[in-house]
Amino acid sequence: MAASEEFWNKRAERYDAKTVKGPNYAKRIERVKAWLHDTAVVLDVGCASAEITLDIAPHVGQIHGIDVSAGMIELARKKASERGIHNARFSRTDPRISPRNIPDDPDLAEGSFDAVTAYSVIHLLEDVPGTLVRLHDLLKPGGKLITETPCIGDWNIGWKMLVKLAMLFGMAPQVVMLKVAELESMIADAGFEVMESKVYNPKSRLQCIMAKKQ
Ligand SMILES: C[S@@+](CC[C@H](N)C(=O)[O-])C[C@H]1O[C@@H](n2cnc3c(N)ncnc32)[C@H](O)[C@@H]1O
Repeated sequence: MAASEEFWNKRAERYDAKTVKGPNYAKRIERVKAWLHDTAVVLDVGCASAEITLDIAPHVGQIHGIDVSAGMIELARKKASERGIHNARFSRTDPRISPRNIPDDPDLAEGSFDAVTAYSVIHLLEDVPGTLVRLHDLLKPGGKLITETPCIGDWNIGWKMLVKLAMLFGMAPQVVMLKVAELESMIADAGFEVMESKVYNPKSRLQCIMAKKQ
């Protein structure tokens, strides 16, 4: 089992307890809703236990959540069934979903999605540029990439040290310390036009980038 899957499997059961749905959460859902339409086919990368996926589901045609953690996917399926949400499905994918290493997966056919959401996952990828190319391939022309990423590379030295220590002691997953400018360039290099890049909530410091497949 890959280290990242093991890390997230261990946290699956407790993951939801940490999700606080305050006013900022509602605003995040409103924002993504405004970028989508009610027949959109959406891929949610790194869906975890699907809290966000299941809150987006009522506003789109279909949503497909993928995650490396089998434990998270099991929880996601259970919650979708308990909540009677029928337009969401889930699958466990290889951590290296890039570049083109799952060409035979019929659920992940090239050009089949109107939008890809990737919340708090890009910094966890083994190959960020390769995965962005793969996500670009999965989108229809004009399709949207909607991301939120902690760009730890721009945080101060104290925070970076804390993250490094947490990784060292297994309290945090292995992360890529991306800077905002680097991430924007990688997204552009994968063939997207960056439409918006900003931090909506200074407390979370998540860089929200919306980009379009040209
Ligand atoms: C911090 S959680 C974010 C979950 C959710 N998107 C959210 O914002 O609440 C990161 C998730 O990404 C998953 N993950 C990590 N690397 C991944 C990869 N290469 N492909 C797919 N999922 C991955 C983890 O298993 C974990 O469930």
